[in-house]
Amino acid sequence: MREEYPELILLDTGDLFGVDDGISRAQTVIEAYRLAGYDLVALGDQDLLRGELTPAELLDRLPFASVNLFTVDKDSPPLPQAKVFERHGIRIGVAAVIHPDCFKDGPDLGALGYGVLDWRESLSRAVGDLEAAGCEIIIVLSHLGVPGEVEISQNFPQVDLIVGGHSGLFRWEPETTEGAPIVWPGRKSRYVGVAQLSLARENLGELLSYEALPVDGDEIEIDPATRAVILAYEQKRYSDWLERFYKPEGEYTWHASERCGTCHSSQYEQWTSSPHAHAWETLAETGDDRNLECIHCHATGFGKPGGFGSAELTPHLTGVGCQMCHQTPEDHPADGSVPELEARICASCHRPGHDDDFIFSRDAELVRH
Ligand code: HEC
Ligand code: HEC
Ligand code: HEC
Ligand code: HEC
Repeated sequence: MREEYPELILLDTGDLFGVDDGISRAQTVIEAYRLAGYDLVALGDQDLLRGELTPAELLDRLPFASVNLFTVDKDSPPLPQAKVFERHGIRIGVAAVIHPDCFKDGPDLGALGYGVLDWRESLSRAVGDLEAAGCEIIIVLSHLGVPGEVEISQNFPQVDLIVGGHSGLFRWEPETTEGAPIVWPGRKSRYVGVAQLSLARENLGELLSYEALPVDGDEIEIDPATRAVILAYEQKRYSDWLERFYKPEGEYTWHASERCGTCHSSQYEQWTSSPHAHAWETLAETGDDRNLECIHCHATGFGKPGGFGSAELTPHLTGVGCQMCHQTPEDHPADGSVPELEARICASCHRPGHDDDFIFSRDAELVRH
């Protein structure tokens, strides 16, 4: 990737150490990032609390940074605050920031000898320093969550791009309404967000394009070793999920849509040729059929006892089946009361980020049988 795009700067918003994945994310993803040659990674709460590494040990592995982490008994900050890159004579400053609240419910950070300063003050000082160092483009790697990111976009006019983290939010498109654009490339290194900023004088720092590319897709040139590490992690995470959380039976029975069709044949016929019936194939085509981020909207009863487990275990529950819209009671049709179809049922899947243009009254017409 670097040979092709020498301007590239590889950044991440942190939490490389997984929460409860059953395998050490540190060993897989950090390894992948080292291979890829990441340039700067924001410190995330999990990196300090779960990885059991000190900031210095983290730094040995990857270029972590944070504007507001401090060491209780020392004056010098434990991590660099920002980094300056130069591309075609333009200086680009990247600062990383974390929200103190990230540590609210976790183990005591103070007991580890660290603290986190107010993020607004620290960031504004760091941004000022970057400007003083001649940076004409400023990027913030945020481990603040969405409200903090929106606040930077509104209140830090010097900032050109915010990369959102901590919330795990994924968006195909940048958020551009609030000032500086914010991009949310999602969690678990599954996507690489590619943001192209202008280096031309007349629109310096303007976001020219943004794309979220799946690491296993063809659009992105990734070192095969890096890709293998990330995909092995995804596979492992999925088999861990199956082993630990999948329940083949529950109080509620998830039926094959075909079975509903034995009585509702015209509705079934119509459904089989609808996009909902093919939602699983759509997902499998992108190679995301083992991606825990995607399955619940492209299969039937995923995550529920007796619901979808995998295409092999529950082939009859692939796609958006009848019960994802019609929550028929267990003893249907003896109990004739099928709850009315409300907009919120559709909206649980047709929500911004996946369908930015959903209007119930209009779109329900398209799915009526
Ligand atoms: C043994 C036959 C049978 C099966 C199997 C069956 N239904 Fe029904 N369903 C009925 C009957 C009978 C009614 C009530 C009469 C009617 O409205 O058609 C009904 C009513 C409904 C209604 C309400 C229709 C309305 O007018 O409000 C929905 C929705 C529905 N079924 C969905 C399903 C789904 C989803 C499944 C599979 C999980 C299913 N049915 C399986 C026979 C069946
Ligand atoms: C479990 C998640 C889920 C629910 C619930 C759901 N959908 Fe969908 N819907 C999808 C997915 C996924 C697709 C894309 C399928 C594909 O193209 O493979 C889709 C596709 C569609 C499409 C076709 C879109 C297009 O641009 O071609 C329409 C229209 C639609 N849904 C309307 C609705 C309506 C109306 C409801 C509620 C009555 C609803 N959906 C409920 C997941 C859902
Ligand atoms: C919150 C529910 C939800 C999740 C999670 C979800 N999808 Fe979808 N997906 C949808 C809906 C709804 C549509 C239909 C969009 C429309 O109406 O145009 C869709 C459509 C698609 C399509 C076909 C249309 C397109 O955009 O090309 C693909 C491919 C797809 N999803 C892949 C994925 C992948 C990959 C993931 C995981 C990273 C994922 N989806 C996660 C709800 C979801
Ligand atoms: C994406 C959501 C969705 C899926 C999936 C879905 N339906 Fe429906 N279904 C609807 C909508 C919308 C209506 C119209 C309901 C209304 O107007 O209240 C409807 C109506 C019905 C009715 C009432 C009679 C009629 O035709 O209006 C029956 C019966 C029914 N569906 C059965 C099924 C069966 C069986 C399946 C699976 C093969 C299925 N539906 C899959 C959305 C869905």
